[in-house]
Amino acid sequence: MTADFTTSPAQEIKRKIFVTTALPYANGKFHLGHMMEYIQADIWVRFQRMRGHEVHWVCADDTHGAPIMIAAEKAGKSPQDFVAEIAATRKEYLDGFHLSIDNWHSTDSPENVELAQDIYRKLRDFVRDGKPASFIERRSVEQFYDPVKGMFLPDRYIKGECPKCGTKDQYGDSCENCSAVYAPTDLKNPYSVLSGATPEMRSSEHFFFRLSDPQCVEFLREWTEGLDRHGKKRLQSEIIAKTKEWLGEDGKMGDWDISRDAPYFGIPLPDAPGKYFYVWLDAPVGYLASLKNYFDTGKAAKNGEPRSFEEFLKAEDTEQIHFIGKDIVYFHVLFWPAMLKYSGYKTPDNVNVHGFITVGGEKMSKSRGTGIDPLTYLKIGMNPEWLRYYIAAKLNSHVEDIDFTAEDFMARVNSDLIGKFVNIASRTAGFVHKHFAGELSPLAAETATISHAMVGAKASEVAALYESREFGKATRLIMDMADAVNLFYDTAKPWEMAKLAATDPQARFALLTTCSVVLESFRQLAILLTPIMPTLSTRAFEFLGVRQQCWSDITSSLPAQHVIHPYKHLMSRVEEKQLDELFGLLPDGTDKSAKTQPAQKGAASGTTSKKSAAPAPQPDATAKSGEFISIDDFAKVDLRIAKIVNAEHVEGSDKLLRLTLDVGEVDTLGQPRLRNVFSGIKSAYAPENLIGQFTVLVANLAPRKMKFGVSDGMVLAASAKDGNNAAGLYLLNPHTGATAGMKVT
Ligand code: MSP
Ligand code: ZN
Repeated sequence: MTADFTTSPAQEIKRKIFVTTALPYANGKFHLGHMMEYIQADIWVRFQRMRGHEVHWVCADDTHGAPIMIAAEKAGKSPQDFVAEIAATRKEYLDGFHLSIDNWHSTDSPENVELAQDIYRKLRDFVRDGKPASFIERRSVEQFYDPVKGMFLPDRYIKGECPKCGTKDQYGDSCENCSAVYAPTDLKNPYSVLSGATPEMRSSEHFFFRLSDPQCVEFLREWTEGLDRHGKKRLQSEIIAKTKEWLGEDGKMGDWDISRDAPYFGIPLPDAPGKYFYVWLDAPVGYLASLKNYFDTGKAAKNGEPRSFEEFLKAEDTEQIHFIGKDIVYFHVLFWPAMLKYSGYKTPDNVNVHGFITVGGEKMSKSRGTGIDPLTYLKIGMNPEWLRYYIAAKLNSHVEDIDFTAEDFMARVNSDLIGKFVNIASRTAGFVHKHFAGELSPLAAETATISHAMVGAKASEVAALYESREFGKATRLIMDMADAVNLFYDTAKPWEMAKLAATDPQARFALLTTCSVVLESFRQLAILLTPIMPTLSTRAFEFLGVRQQCWSDITSSLPAQHVIHPYKHLMSRVEEKQLDELFGLLPDGTDKSAKTQPAQKGAASGTTSKKSAAPAPQPDATAKSGEFISIDDFAKVDLRIAKIVNAEHVEGSDKLLRLTLDVGEVDTLGQPRLRNVFSGIKSAYAPENLIGQFTVLVANLAPRKMKFGVSDGMVLAASAKDGNNAAGLYLLNPHTGATAGMKVT
C-alpha cells in the first residue's frame, strides 16, 4: 500500500459495544421478519467491526410463558424438550444468512435464573435516602381460573359471548363482530379455551413492579428523551413521541404485574413458592444471561475481551445497544430501563426500533403461512446476500415498514449488484490478463488519486450513513459511485484501446491506466459494501489479490505493479424461476401451494399466476348428474358482499387485477380490515371502472400465497361454460342496497 490520503477520519477511540437483537419466541421457526432484524443488526455490527471497534452481539431463545407451556403440552413434550427442538433449528438460518452473532443462548438457563432473581431482589430491597423504598408490592388479583386444568387463565385463553351483541366465541378483550372492547370478566357464558370448562373467579396474590413511582416516571421521562454518549438522541424521534404519550400527565403509567401462578414455565420468584416471573420480566434479562454465558464460556476472551462479565458490564465505556421491532417498544423503553436502573445495572445506550417487513403487502403470520420461508430461500440456492442487499436497500433509520415484492427484488439485485458492481470487475479483468499478464499500473499513486475522487472521497459519507442505520441511502450512494466508475470506463472506451495496444504504446499505457483506476475503484467499492455483502466482497478481494480489507483500507491503494488473480465468477443474477420456486410455484407450472386449495372453478378464481399455475378449469364441473350437495355443504361457503375500494394492475401479470375489498370486517383493535384478492379479470375490466362497485366474495377460501402477494378469497364472475374467456367475463353485482359484509345465502 502506497498512497495515503489526508482526508481519512481521525482515528476514533475504540468503542466497546454490547449489541442485542430481540429474543425470538421458541415456539416457532424463524420467518422473514426475524431475518430482517438480524440482517439490519448484522450490517451495523460488521460496519463497527470494520472500523476497528469491539462488538459483542448476543441473542437467545425466549422460552418461557403460558403459550409455550401449552404448545409443549399439546405436542406431548416437556417444555424443555419443546424449546430445545426449536433451538436446534436456529443455526442453519443464522449461518445461512451470514449473521455474525457471537453467542446464542436461552432464557431457560442458570445464568438467567441467577440474573432475573438478582434484579428482582435488588428491586425488592431498594433503599432511598436510607429508607426502605421497595419497588415490589404484593396485591391480591381476581382472575379467571380453569378448574379442570387447575390453572389461572391468561386472557387469550378465555372466550365467550360478546356482552354487547351476543356473538359467540369471542376473545376476552374485544368482539370481532361489533368491535366492542371489554374485560374478560364481562363475557357472557365464558369458557376456557383449554378445557371448555366454565372458569371460576379466584383471587391470588401477585407481585407488582411499582412503575408508577413518581421518581421512576421522572427517570423514564429523562431517559427516553435523553442523549446518548455521542450526543445523539438515545431513541428515534417517533419513539420519543410515543413515550411522551405513555408517560403523559394523565398518569397512565400503571404498576406492572410481574408474577404468575404455578403451573407456569418460567423462573421462580426467590421468596414466594408457587410464583413465577411473568415471561416479559425474564425475557430481556436473557440479553444479560447470554452475555454472561458468552463471557463465562471463554468466548469473549477469544474475541479479545479480557475482562469478566461483571467488569465489562459495569465499565463506563461499554455501550449497550438493542435492536428491536416496533411491536415490543413498550417493554424495551419503559419496563427494561426501569428494571435496570433500580437494580443498579447499566441502562441501555440506544434502543433502535425498526418497522415490519411484509411480503406483497401481507403480514407474516405463522398460522396462515404467508411470507417467504428463509430456509426454502436458501435450499433452492438463492444467494443470501441478495436478500441482505435488498433489505439494506429498503431500510432507513425510521420505524417504517418495508415490503418485499418479487419484481422489485429481482430488479434491485440484478441492476445494482450485477449490472453496476460486479460488472466493473468482469468487464475489466480480461484486458489486464490478456495484455498485461494480470499486472496493474506502476503509477499506483496516480491511479489511486483518480479512483479516490470517484469513490474514496465519499467513504466518510457512507460511514455516517451506516452509523445512523440509513442503509438505503448508503446503498444508493455506493451505487451512484459504481455508476461513476462505469461511466469512466465507458468514456475511456478501453475496448478501442485494446485493439491498438499491440502496436501503439500510448494506447497500451492508456488501457493499463484505465483498467488500474477501475479496479482500484472496485476495491474501494467492495470495502464500502462489505458490511452488507461479506462474502461477495471477500471474493472480490481474492480476485484482486489483497487480504480482507478493513474500513481504513479505503484510504490506501493497491501497490504499484500489483498482480490480480484470474477473474472468477463473483455472483449470479436472480432468475425469475427462482422466485417462482420461492413463492411455491414450481418451474413446471404446477403449484405446490395448490395442494391445500379446493379446486378452483372458472376464470375469475383470481389465483392463477403469470404462468397459469392453477389447474385447468373443469368444463361444467357441476354437470356430474345426480350429484347433489346438501344445504350444509353449501353453508360451508361463506359468501359475502364486498365493496371494491381499490383495483389496480399487477406489475408483471397480464391476467390479474389486485382488488382491495371491504367485507365489513374489523381487526381485534376495531380497525377496518380490508382484503387483498387477486382476480384474473384483467382482460374484462379496467381497474378504475371497478372502484366503488359491489360484488360477491368467497370469504372463507383458504388464503393463497402467490408471487405477487397473498390472495385472501375469491370474487365471483360468470364465464362461458367451456371456460372460453373470449365469451367474456362478468363480475357478479348485487342489486342496489346491498352493503359490504352482508351474507349471501
Ligand atoms: N420474544 C419476544 C421478544 C423478547 S426480547 C427480550 C418477541 N419475539 S418474536 O419472535 O415475536 O419477535 C422477535 C423480533 O422479530 C421482534 O423484534 C419483532 O419485532 C421482530 N419481528 C417479528 N415480525 C417481524 C416482521 N414482520 N418484520 C420485522 N421484524 C419483525 O417479540
Ligand atoms: Zn359484539
